[in-house]
Amino acid sequence: MTSLPKQGKSWSELDGEMDAARDGDVDWRRGRVGVYIHYAGDEVLDVAKKAYLKFFSENGLGPRAFPSLARFESDVVAMTLRLLHGGSDARGAMTTGGTESIFLAVKSARDWARVARPAVERPHIVVPQTAHPAFNKAADWLGIEVQRVPVGADFHADADAMAAAIGPRTIMLVGSAPAFPHGVMDPIADIAAVALRHDLWMHVDACVGGFIAPFAKALGEPIGDFDFAVPGVVSMSADLHKYGYAAKGASTVLYRDAAAFKFQAYSFSDWPRGVYATQTLVGTRAGGAIAAAWAVMNFLGEDGYRAITRRLLDTRRAIGAGVEKLGLEIWGRPELSILSYGSAAIDIAQVADRLSTRGWFVGRLVEPPGIHLMLNLTHEPIVEEYLGDLDWAMNEARAGRARKVEQPATY
Ligand SMILES: Cc1ncc(COP(=O)(O)O)c(C=O)c1O
Repeated sequence: MTSLPKQGKSWSELDGEMDAARDGDVDWRRGRVGVYIHYAGDEVLDVAKKAYLKFFSENGLGPRAFPSLARFESDVVAMTLRLLHGGSDARGAMTTGGTESIFLAVKSARDWARVARPAVERPHIVVPQTAHPAFNKAADWLGIEVQRVPVGADFHADADAMAAAIGPRTIMLVGSAPAFPHGVMDPIADIAAVALRHDLWMHVDACVGGFIAPFAKALGEPIGDFDFAVPGVVSMSADLHKYGYAAKGASTVLYRDAAAFKFQAYSFSDWPRGVYATQTLVGTRAGGAIAAAWAVMNFLGEDGYRAITRRLLDTRRAIGAGVEKLGLEIWGRPELSILSYGSAAIDIAQVADRLSTRGWFVGRLVEPPGIHLMLNLTHEPIVEEYLGDLDWAMNEARAGRARKVEQPATY
């Protein structure tokens, strides 16, 4: 087991060691990873890094000590709310990621229900089968039961089936914009109408789509309303560290109004240091992540985000067309930057195994079996190479030459 070195090492030694440690990492800069990375060009990355370093030591826990960070956060939340059609009473906060945003929204819904539905002892929430596992993680920790409802044949959430799953203990419904597995947008207006009819809290998980769907819509893509423009949507999550292109450790959790937002806050004073009050789950927060999000949003502006979105949509279409030309099927009708595909005619797991041997880090879908891609601009120049290797991998799989590689079916 590694122990703390007796004497410290020099930076040059550590620098070398860390570079060597990277040897086994996947080459994301060459577009080899269809998950984890949201690259929008070196210029954007540079802005994020510089802003992060500028506020590297500052702590988002201390808005009175660092009014700069308080202002950045308030600007980021306001810009995001504006983008997602929040009204003048809408509120929100920056969090460390999608999981924390979702956790907080579920906790707020639970605490709202304690007031609005005091008879409910063990709350129940209804989510589509395709919703992110963060809802289960949050619910498990918060003493809430989750019911996952099968999606339709097109992989969209089925609002009628969700309505049928509502019982006396149900407090919350969820829709994704889009859902991670197939990249399709759930019918948010339909789910929200059900939520309104049953007086339930409705959350839209726009962790992936929050900073891409509005621009795709502006580019004329046929995307339905999915945000606070839809009556009944109470809260949303939108990740800055995905298609906001900010440094990792940045997301937003947003509320239609101050009355909903108030369920998120926490305050405690029964200890020697007086009042400890936070809006989010964590205490200390990286000042760098807050500063980088603010800087990138202002660096890109609407035009910048729209231009990147157009390139991503073109890349998705090019890959989708190539995949179909190879005889594979795109699962559902992806609307943004995620696509997944497979085929009943070929063992797609074997294709994925073979593809991995050429340096691609392959995301795997389980239902239906498939290959999953979440795109960023590193994929723009490698479309032909990817499709060429896919063609080769399919031939290898057909010829029975697929070799099992050690890559689990997780993302
Ligand atoms: C739809 C969706 N929601 C939530 C999350 C969780 O985000 P994070 O990994 O930032 O916690 C993800 C992550 O991929 C996602 O795709």
